[in-house]
Amino acid sequence: MKPSVLQTLLEPAATAIAVHGKKQRKQQQATCTNNRRDGRALLPQEKCGRMPVLALALIFCVTVYLYFTTTTWTDTTQMIVTIPADDVDLPGPKDQIATKCTTKQQMQHPAAHARADEPQLTKTNTNRIIPIVPQTNATRSDVTTAPTNTTPVAIACTDDHRSRLGGNRTDQSVMSPCSTTAHPTDPNAPVPKGFLVWGPGCQIMDLDPLAKDVMRLFSKERFAPCSPKQPLTTIEQNFDNDTVLVRFHRELIESYMPHYMRYLRCCYQSIERSGTKDKADKNFWVGECIAFNESFLLPPSVRTGILVRCKAGVSEASKSKKAIYTNTHALVRPQAAVRERMDRFKGRTEKRPLSVLMIGIDSISRLNLIRAMPHTAQHLYDTGWFELKGYNKIDDNTYPNLMAILTGYNNSLAYSICNPKKVGQLEECPFMWKYFADSGYATAYAEDEASINTFNYHKYGFVAQPTDHYFRPVALAAEKNLSKKLKNSLTFCLGYQHYADHIYQYALDFASQYRNDPYFGLFWTNTFSHNDISDPSSMDQRMKYYVEQLDERGILNNSMVVFFSDHGLRFGPVRMLLTGWLEERLPFNFIWLPEWFREEHPEIVQALKINRNRLTNPYDLHVTLKHVLELSGRIDNLPGPLSCPNCQSIFTEMPWNRSCEDVAIESHWCTCSNFQTIDKRSAMVQRAVAFVIDYVNRDLQEHRNSTTSNYVCATLTLGSITLAKMAREPKGKLPYNDYLLIFEGKPGGGKFESTVRHYQHRDAFEITGSISRLNEYASQSECMHIDYLRKYCYCQRSKLF
Ligand SMILES: *[C@@H]1O[C@H](CO)[C@@H](O)[C@H](O)[C@H]1NC(C)=O
Ligand SMILES: *[C@@H]1O[C@H](CO)[C@@H](O)[C@H](O)[C@H]1NC(C)=O
Ligand SMILES: *[C@@H]1O[C@H](CO)[C@@H](O)[C@H](O)[C@H]1NC(C)=O
Ligand SMILES: *[C@@H]1O[C@H](CO)[C@@H](O)[C@H](O)[C@H]1NC(C)=O
Ligand SMILES: *[C@@H]1O[C@H](CO)[C@@H](O)[C@H](O)[C@H]1NC(C)=O
Ligand SMILES: *[C@@H]1O[C@H](CO)[C@@H](O)[C@H](O)[C@H]1NC(C)=O
Ligand SMILES: *[C@@H]1O[C@H](CO)[C@@H](O)[C@H](O)[C@H]1NC(C)=O
Ligand SMILES: *[C@@H]1O[C@H](CO)[C@@H](O)[C@H](O)[C@H]1NC(C)=O
Ligand SMILES: *[C@@H]1O[C@H](CO)[C@@H](O)[C@H](O)[C@H]1NC(C)=O
Repeated sequence: MKPSVLQTLLEPAATAIAVHGKKQRKQQQATCTNNRRDGRALLPQEKCGRMPVLALALIFCVTVYLYFTTTTWTDTTQMIVTIPADDVDLPGPKDQIATKCTTKQQMQHPAAHARADEPQLTKTNTNRIIPIVPQTNATRSDVTTAPTNTTPVAIACTDDHRSRLGGNRTDQSVMSPCSTTAHPTDPNAPVPKGFLVWGPGCQIMDLDPLAKDVMRLFSKERFAPCSPKQPLTTIEQNFDNDTVLVRFHRELIESYMPHYMRYLRCCYQSIERSGTKDKADKNFWVGECIAFNESFLLPPSVRTGILVRCKAGVSEASKSKKAIYTNTHALVRPQAAVRERMDRFKGRTEKRPLSVLMIGIDSISRLNLIRAMPHTAQHLYDTGWFELKGYNKIDDNTYPNLMAILTGYNNSLAYSICNPKKVGQLEECPFMWKYFADSGYATAYAEDEASINTFNYHKYGFVAQPTDHYFRPVALAAEKNLSKKLKNSLTFCLGYQHYADHIYQYALDFASQYRNDPYFGLFWTNTFSHNDISDPSSMDQRMKYYVEQLDERGILNNSMVVFFSDHGLRFGPVRMLLTGWLEERLPFNFIWLPEWFREEHPEIVQALKINRNRLTNPYDLHVTLKHVLELSGRIDNLPGPLSCPNCQSIFTEMPWNRSCEDVAIESHWCTCSNFQTIDKRSAMVQRAVAFVIDYVNRDLQEHRNSTTSNYVCATLTLGSITLAKMAREPKGKLPYNDYLLIFEGKPGGGKFESTVRHYQHRDAFEITGSISRLNEYASQSECMHIDYLRKYCYCQRSKLF
């Protein structure tokens, strides 16, 4: 039974999980039928066999066992996260939110508790989610949710309405009395229930993370260790005197070596970055293999990482030796140049510089963090992290959203100033880590899954190493040499650990190495979240453990920690739901500030509490990082983000009336407007879709010579329109209307989502942002060499003349 639990115990970083696992097991042992959550791990015979041998009981047990192992068991033990009320720690009267446009039932519980009870949520219909697809009757949808003239998803009262009803209304009237002419007029009014952001320029709805439609696509996954074996070698780094002990666990040899083999030979190789020009981020170098047969100290010259290999044979002389163990260990060892740079700033100012750790997980929306990683989310809520609920992405995928944080550039500006498709250009970008390094900080960057790394996927990456500590060479060596377990086509396991564990271990080592110095680190993982909404659930306890480690090691006393994502899941069945539309655009974002920093800056704490319910974006985060640097007193007057002049530090209160337009978020990516379903057969919708298809075909046509020879992209034609919606502009009358369209193209069955703007005066259309592709297309589009055109291109053999 215990392989999983035992193994977690054995893994270096798993005590918390093991404890949790034990608790669960106790409950499970109570009865025979209780083992359903873990049918395979706990054979019923084991327990039932100890009872008097009653054949009947045995048959019963076996039946139950078979039932629960053969039916797909959806784990009903979904943990419900208790989210603190928005006004919980703001000055002024509390619980105002509950007085607004809610049922009597909800009034009795504060907003936070209303959430904690799923049946109640569905009963009161607060966070209803309307599936966008299938939508067979467009005219119907207005009626399905609520009486006409109400927002289709979440309804809020006007200020007028609220005051008329008074502070202690007890009537049961819920949604219907609320009018959509609702317009926020009071900056100090609390955010009404059903919304995350509530201002005149932006109203972002709050959906139920556990709504039925999305839960149908979600299943909680168990944590499974990557290997039943403990690694034969581990690293013990002493951060005080820069020594690294490689511990050789001789006692484990038996579990690795076939019993008939007697001879074992182990050696390690130093891993280093290698290669020049376009190969700089592709190649790595491994040194001579140096033999060892016991624990030893690594020589000072080995600084980046090591590759360890062991071979076994029947005797020393035997020709056929078997590789029985391969592993890599990444190192964060101090560097003289970094020390020198730091010393230059020592004692210059009295202020204690704040370190920064950015820990990012790809493709996790705020709602999916709460859904798939509830223990982690609850821990963040319980320990005083600041949340940015209205953190809206600014572009489609990882690269532009991270570039906005790291450089303040949008995609087109970044491509024109520091084109990652030209060798050696990327480092021309004014990356955040350069500013930090120039101010005497140590810097690090690590990411998993080398082939899709942010700066390398269809790009050349860095010729000059970007940060003082750079994980990529070790990642390349490890991926080449270690065994892998794929999950949803990503390297979930790499060697004896989850790939993400390699990254988090590196982050902990980095922060520990520089615990007495200022540092800036970016640690990014793709492998347990990029392709599926359920995958992150297996890492929930693990992630919580790492957050606790940050605390235990004192890192939370030194650092601002930004725990965040770039966007939600971008494709797949979830994207066909309204929640998928919202989640793609609203990644999670939590910020930690050390106690001493909060005490020094009460105004920042106050601003963060307010900004929890304001529209924010990656450019704001960019300004915030520069703000952190300026607060160190080491540098001043840093430039703002070029692509968003109105963006500002999250440490200052965001204007209540912010809109996407103000902060460089194009309509297609903006979650501020409410959309209302319209008749997809209407002339306007037909024209708008025709415009999009024409736009795509023109783009393909212009780049027809960018395909593999003998291949062309098929001309896109309309299959069917799945959905048409029109934005209700929060700001009122505008010279344009925005239409949200989802349609299927032919050939290839591509599902596309576009937000098209129509200017009434000129009767002209415009694509906002870019066009999203909602289903996967990888193999259809291999002939196209231009990234963004792949999602449109259906490759066909061209006719031979
Ligand atoms: C669509 O809605 C209209 C009006 O509500 C109704 O008359 C019609 O039967 C519906 N069509 C379908 C296919 O449901
Ligand atoms: C609230 O209700 C109480 C008793 O029902 C009433 O006396 C009071 O005036 C009400 N307050 C407001 C603001 O309506
Ligand atoms: C480094 O510190 C460790 C533990 O404090 C000690 O065992 C080791 O001998 C030291 N090594 C050197 C080279 O000073
Ligand atoms: C380990 O290797 C050293 C030399 O490399 C050798 O002298 C020693 O006997 C070896 N020890 C064992 C236990 O094999
Ligand atoms: C590890 O990677 C290096 C570099 O590609 C390669 O030469 C070597 O054969 C690999 N080792 C194993 C055991 O796969
Ligand atoms: C945090 O750091 C400060 C200053 O170094 C120290 O005085 C304080 O004890 C630390 N707090 C914790 C909880 O470690
Ligand atoms: C990108 O930023 C530049 C410079 O700020 C701006 O001129 C341009 O319009 C922006 N492009 C887009 C697509 O937003
Ligand atoms: C937002 O409000 C401020 C004052 O509160 C005003 O100066 C500014 O013009 C407003 N911005 C917009 C876009 O309405
Ligand atoms: C493709 O055509 C355009 C103009 O039509 C030209 O500028 C470009 O160099 C061509 N690219 C290739 C790869 O031939």
